[in-house]
Amino acid sequence: MMVKYLLSEKDIPKQWYNLAADLPTPMQPPLGPDGRPISPEMLAPVFPMNIIEQEVSQQRWIDIPQEVLEILYRWRPAPLRRAIFLEKYLKTPARIYYKDESVSPAGSHKPNTAVPQAWYNKQAGIKRITTETGAGQWGCALAFACNLLGLECKVFMVRISFDQKPFRKLMMRVWGANCVASPSTETQAGRDILLQDPNTPGSLGIAISEAIEQAVADKTGQTRYSLGSVLNHVMLHQTIIGLEAKKQLAMAGEKKPDIVIGCAGGGSNFAGIAFPFVCDKIHGEDIRIIPVEPAACPTLTRGPFSYDHGDVAKMTPLLPMHTLGHTFVPPPIHAGGLRYHGMAPLVCQAVVEGLMEPRSVTQNRAYESAMIWARTEGMICAPETSHAITSAIDEAIKAREEGKEKVILFNYSGHGLMDLLGYEKFLDGKLTDYSPSDDEIKKFLLPLEGLPKPSTQKTGKW
Ligand SMILES: Cc1ncc(COP(=O)(O)O)c(C=O)c1O
Repeated sequence: MMVKYLLSEKDIPKQWYNLAADLPTPMQPPLGPDGRPISPEMLAPVFPMNIIEQEVSQQRWIDIPQEVLEILYRWRPAPLRRAIFLEKYLKTPARIYYKDESVSPAGSHKPNTAVPQAWYNKQAGIKRITTETGAGQWGCALAFACNLLGLECKVFMVRISFDQKPFRKLMMRVWGANCVASPSTETQAGRDILLQDPNTPGSLGIAISEAIEQAVADKTGQTRYSLGSVLNHVMLHQTIIGLEAKKQLAMAGEKKPDIVIGCAGGGSNFAGIAFPFVCDKIHGEDIRIIPVEPAACPTLTRGPFSYDHGDVAKMTPLLPMHTLGHTFVPPPIHAGGLRYHGMAPLVCQAVVEGLMEPRSVTQNRAYESAMIWARTEGMICAPETSHAITSAIDEAIKAREEGKEKVILFNYSGHGLMDLLGYEKFLDGKLTDYSPSDDEIKKFLLPLEGLPKPSTQKTGKW
């Protein structure tokens, strides 16, 4: 039985897919502090214009530059694998496929966008990029890409992950980046937070504020900021995952997946695998599409769809998204990459439209699935990825109970070889489950009261 479906370099997709072109309800624009849509020029101190053009593009297919492809060939096309050992263990009639994004140099899907982002910055004459990182995967990916393209890279790493994942910061150093814990004393945003709470575990929202502040503070104009998730251009770059998966499912003789699953922090690996199939669903295919988030940071499952800032210091424009409020500091769970108060607006608009079925799982449940995975398939997954595995297991069990041969596809967003401390805590029975109470969520949503509200209009087709 075949368990690996491999494409050759010549089969790599040459274009990215832009879901904005097909969403039945149009995307709502980011807003400035005055509540009016922001212009591309207003973003120019933060991002280079070639990236801003992609951010606002409505074009369905966008060419991948040849030089970017030549770097992606180092690990792409990534394998599609069939999890037959997990299938046997679960005694399920379902066929479970997973796209293995752990094979990239940084160990996750993140380099799929780090490489084009660094490349576009270089084309625009930028010399230095600042960014934030949660689990450290994104920081590593950007460090790797900047190193290949000869750019300087500065990473603000969320404090809790900086302490929990010491090897990630060493990887960034190997690739020549400078990584500091956030909140730091290097920025006004960081100093303000430390004054309020010197022991804060930090959050992606805080680290983003620091990275943007430092980018725009460079008066030479040679520094820009880069975001590893959430924004439209990041979702776009990640669609190479789902586009490859489509070709590979065809190689496996599958007409279509019945269920597509990805874990969702800011939404990028989920969007990457899901958006090409969301396109099929919009055009009539019967596919269930499931983003999975942690119960400790339940953005899609419990946050309202609202305009909110992407960061604590309110430096980003207002984005239409599901949110727990920009001041929400998620509990220090080990899936650091899923600790974000907001979500990609493209994912959120598709959720509003009813095209997706968000789920949440607790930390211990996710680690139980990671253990089943490691003891059947053999690989040790990233704590973020274990959320997707949990839903894949749930769906495979449901298929068994219903006696149906479903095709399940999920994104294996990264390996967990740098995240073993979380596994140690789980094995020692020391992991805590968190779930914010309704009152806590209400408290963090208070700052949204005066902000504009996006339309929740939908076609009602799904
Ligand atoms: C392995 C892995 N999976 C998933 C995520 C979540 O991010 P996103 O939702 O943007 O894919 C991260 C983020 O750091 C990650 O490192």
